[in-house]
Amino acid sequence: MNSFAKAQALRASKGHRRISALTAYDYPSARLLDEAGIDLLLVGDSLGMVVLGFPDTTHVTLEHMLHHTAAVARAQPRALVLGDMPIHTYNTPAQALASAQALIKAGADAVKLEGGSEHAATIRAITTAGIPVIGHIGMLPQHVIEEGGYHKKGKTPAALQQLLIDAQALTEAGVCAIVMESIIPSSATAITKSVPVPTIGIGCGETTCDGEVAVITDLLGSYPWFVPPFAKPEAQLAPQIIAAARAYHQRVITTKM
Ligand code: KIV
Repeated sequence: MNSFAKAQALRASKGHRRISALTAYDYPSARLLDEAGIDLLLVGDSLGMVVLGFPDTTHVTLEHMLHHTAAVARAQPRALVLGDMPIHTYNTPAQALASAQALIKAGADAVKLEGGSEHAATIRAITTAGIPVIGHIGMLPQHVIEEGGYHKKGKTPAALQQLLIDAQALTEAGVCAIVMESIIPSSATAITKSVPVPTIGIGCGETTCDGEVAVITDLLGSYPWFVPPFAKPEAQLAPQIIAAARAYHQRVITTKM
């Protein structure tokens, strides 16, 4: 399936089938997650933290994203590959289009950017050029410094109203889905019901969106230094990695030459 068909199929899944999405940052995980049947592989700018060791996503550059998007795309996944647009790469519609085109050239099927109605013209510039876009509303990690941390969104009627306006504006700008992050469940449900495109939730509750996305290290338990409260690990790889490395270390240093 080509990128356009993948994006259309994603959009058309609303009301028929829920969407499973995971972050992937490299070739082997992309191959393994694709084999597992995951629908969407997000090359998220979360890689700034869980791969590159930065304190937050504000340090991620377009070059980082191109490098990791290309690695994921080399796995030739059946899943839709979604490339995140890092901070300061979509300040104007023209800059956003150039950044999106670079991510597509690196192998992404679609791009994602953070923000609501204030970015409608930017998103329209990308979708008009034929590049599928996925929106991202609610908690916006690229704003974590101004906001002083990761806070829940949609907690008041006015906050919900603004999110509904944002979701509507993104839809009109042509997004094929919307990621919703850390929105309280009742508000996430209201937004999901209000838009014709699928919503993909993280930290919004399990039954509020048309699909779910998780950061792969949260699922695998391989990044124990920061685990969000909503994470649901299916494995605990960190202790296994340490045990394997310890066993190797012991074997090497005790082997007689
Ligand atoms: O970068 C990322 O991993 C994301 C998810 C939190 C949705 O944007």
